[in-house]
Amino acid sequence: MARILITSGPTRQYIDPVRYLSNASSGQMGYSLAAAALERGHEVVVVSGPVQLTYPEKCQVINVISTEDLLRVCREVFPDCDGLIGAAAPCDYQPVEVADHKIPKTGDSLVIKLIETPDVVATLGNEKKPGQWTVGFALETDDARFRAITKLERKSCDLVVLNGVAAIDSPDNQVEIIAPGGQVLQAVQGNKQQVAGSILDLIDQRLNPEHGKHERS
Ligand code: C5P
Repeated sequence: MARILITSGPTRQYIDPVRYLSNASSGQMGYSLAAAALERGHEVVVVSGPVQLTYPEKCQVINVISTEDLLRVCREVFPDCDGLIGAAAPCDYQPVEVADHKIPKTGDSLVIKLIETPDVVATLGNEKKPGQWTVGFALETDDARFRAITKLERKSCDLVVLNGVAAIDSPDNQVEIIAPGGQVLQAVQGNKQQVAGSILDLIDQRLNPEHGKHERS
């Protein structure tokens, strides 16, 4: 049995007390991965941004709002886990300054300077201890496979799951699971439960051979 950390859902980056940047992630893929991992006897910790769904009862759920919160909590939890599945869609940009009052409308255009947020999967990929693994997702529209492989390398992932924009807020998904070096291990199409099952089976075959060999600190 392995202990698996799953990031899920969107994050929010506030511009002022009422407005924020985010994306359309529903958390359904994270939910399905958590359920598939539990079915296979794993322990699951879900770190999730704001979503409408309720994760399976048997997993530990930690709720976060921003990408920085997601990173902070994951860095606390990951040392006690065998692996990470990064299924969240963290907001990639944050405003340089967050207004402490609601920004009033002036009739003019509003310019907000944004900087990138930290990358959770890349950070944990760099902090992996021997025996720990990380699996990332890539959602691409152009040059999809090439970009997914580039992401896998840049974020030091052990596998990357490539999916298309049709996956967003949909019960179904169509993915390719890609190994370092670019080999497509499996192409799966179906509902998110079926896709999650295939991802967990590959993780168990390739990354969890002894079902949790990482010696926890
Ligand atoms: O946004 P991007 O396509 O680079 O996301 C690919 C992978 O990286 C996903 O697994 C996503 O969860 C993760 N990611 C992250 N932190 C970010 C952006 C993306 O963990 N700030």
